[in-house]
Amino acid sequence: MQLTWPGHSCVLLTGTKKVLIDPFVERGSVIATNPDLVAITHGHADHMGEACALKKKTIAITEIAKYLKAKGLDAEGMNIGGTLTIDGVTFTMTPALHSSVIEEAGPGFSGGAAAGFVVRMDGVTIYHAGDTGLFSDMKLIGELYHPDIALLPIGGRFTMGVAEAMVAASFIGAKTVIPIHYNTWDKIAADPMALKTAVERTTDIHVTIMKPGETINLTP
Ligand code: NI
Ligand code: MN
Repeated sequence: MQLTWPGHSCVLLTGTKKVLIDPFVERGSVIATNPDLVAITHGHADHMGEACALKKKTIAITEIAKYLKAKGLDAEGMNIGGTLTIDGVTFTMTPALHSSVIEEAGPGFSGGAAAGFVVRMDGVTIYHAGDTGLFSDMKLIGELYHPDIALLPIGGRFTMGVAEAMVAASFIGAKTVIPIHYNTWDKIAADPMALKTAVERTTDIHVTIMKPGETINLTP
């Protein structure tokens, strides 16, 4: 399986199926990924992104799934703690400490709760934390799902910063951590090398810093 980071919180998993999480990058390049499945962590515009333009089967919390269905999409609703398997890809929805309105629908249009996903495909387990602050139940996500890879926001201000992501990495215990949701804008400026240096000095966890557009190979 391959993992591509188009940028920000957007991640493309290419294996048996192509799974695109949080499709917020430039519209043409999102459409070009041509995913089989799209997963949305919460309603903020920098996460729902081009979900409606993609018109693919889309997995989201029930409130967002209902909104997408009203927009004509083939959407599958689920909720936190639940697991859904589609075409051999398993999605478990995890908590996230964050807010969620469907920004493209206008102020006050509730997107339910913000969430993250544990995605299992081709024997690899990936935890995409979504937008979240640090929470101690990340330990449970590690104990229950044993993710191989954890994608963690480090931009601060709207999510965890580097200091909290260090703790999150050890709570989750994934062999590899990939920082996301930073340096897209000045308000979420962060230094991924600070995370890498600190985590690798104090744990056996490896921090992989990706460049936007970069692809890495994942082996089970
Ligand atoms: Ni957000
Ligand atoms: Mn965000």
